[in-house]
Amino acid sequence: MSVLITGIGELTTNDGPARSGAALVLDGDRVAWVGAAADAPAADTATDVEGRAVLPGWVDSHTHLVFAGDRTAEFGARMAGKPYTAGGIAVTVAATRAATDDELAAVLRKHVAEAVAQGTTCLETKTGYGLTVADELRSAKLAAAHADEVTFLGAHLVPADMSTEDYVDLVCGEMLDAVAPHVRWADVFCETGAFDEDESRAVLTSAKQRGLGLRVHGNQLGYGPGVRLAVELGAASVDHCTYLTRSDVDALARSDTVATLLPACDLSTRQPLPDARELLDNGATVALATNCNPGSSYTSSMAYCVATAVLQMRMSVEDAVRAATLGGARALRRDDVGVLRPGARADVHVLDAPSTTHLAYRPGVPLTYAVWRNGVLQCHRDDQRDG
Ligand code: NIG
Repeated sequence: MSVLITGIGELTTNDGPARSGAALVLDGDRVAWVGAAADAPAADTATDVEGRAVLPGWVDSHTHLVFAGDRTAEFGARMAGKPYTAGGIAVTVAATRAATDDELAAVLRKHVAEAVAQGTTCLETKTGYGLTVADELRSAKLAAAHADEVTFLGAHLVPADMSTEDYVDLVCGEMLDAVAPHVRWADVFCETGAFDEDESRAVLTSAKQRGLGLRVHGNQLGYGPGVRLAVELGAASVDHCTYLTRSDVDALARSDTVATLLPACDLSTRQPLPDARELLDNGATVALATNCNPGSSYTSSMAYCVATAVLQMRMSVEDAVRAATLGGARALRRDDVGVLRPGARADVHVLDAPSTTHLAYRPGVPLTYAVWRNGVLQCHRDDQRDG
């Protein structure tokens, strides 16, 4: 079944400049054609979006959605002045271990649906709230059933009943052996209070030996070795990048490791926002992601991240939209998402606005009008009105 989308006010493809007067044909789960509306081929059905902006679906390359429990009180205490620390993860670990598979799957489904309804069409999620072989394996399997990309984050925190040395050995051996068949990526929280440089290197090296791609949580709560290590080991992405030295920026600019910025997390943990402009001006590739998780960043809204990046991180609208689509795709080493060109996945986001500028011009206003994911219409605002 093919669909012709016409009446596009502004088309952002990430494959050339944004343009007006364009049309798009989706065929099954792929983009089949992009061009001037006057030249559009016939399709099985047609939809006129009446002057609205069309762009690739968001690529949210960093979430932690395999969890149970609630940390509202921790957030409230933080807003009253208590600092964020890695230790809060243990609260979610206890709740996640106690939850049934069905309960965890329901939480996953709820948050994935929430994200898709806001224009996210490709989503990564992580393990990391299990921290035993059985719980990490279960998290990986559940994540694989609900997300486009899955990351093993056994090295999220050292559980209270183990020494760091024993836990790193477990992650590097038995845990990776069990989880590797179910994930594409491995990650480590390289930060004071979590894993130091040597421990992080051991985990990442063991994962690489098993053929997994690498990601790193780095430079979130202070300056540190995360970015350097990610670049040294050829990680696809280093995420957070809140505290960067000049040499971190240079290392990112010289590498193909993506700097994934998580502005909702920085705001929710009362950290400074990173200077995206410095990264871009020096030639680094930047992605924006939500970091949706119950502790440090409980939002699934990529639009909120885009608005924050424009209003407070010196990104232009074009930079931020690109980072939240193509940047996320690069962070996941994918060339089939984050772009609208023939052969790409039919992941399309229609805004109830004439241009993407409205994402920052009207912050906080829900602007998603329609979403196709893999060629399937997920939501359409007119359908809701009719219903
Ligand atoms: O990306 N930094 C480590 N992991 C998550 C936080 C998880 C939590 O606090 O539960 C993050 O912010």
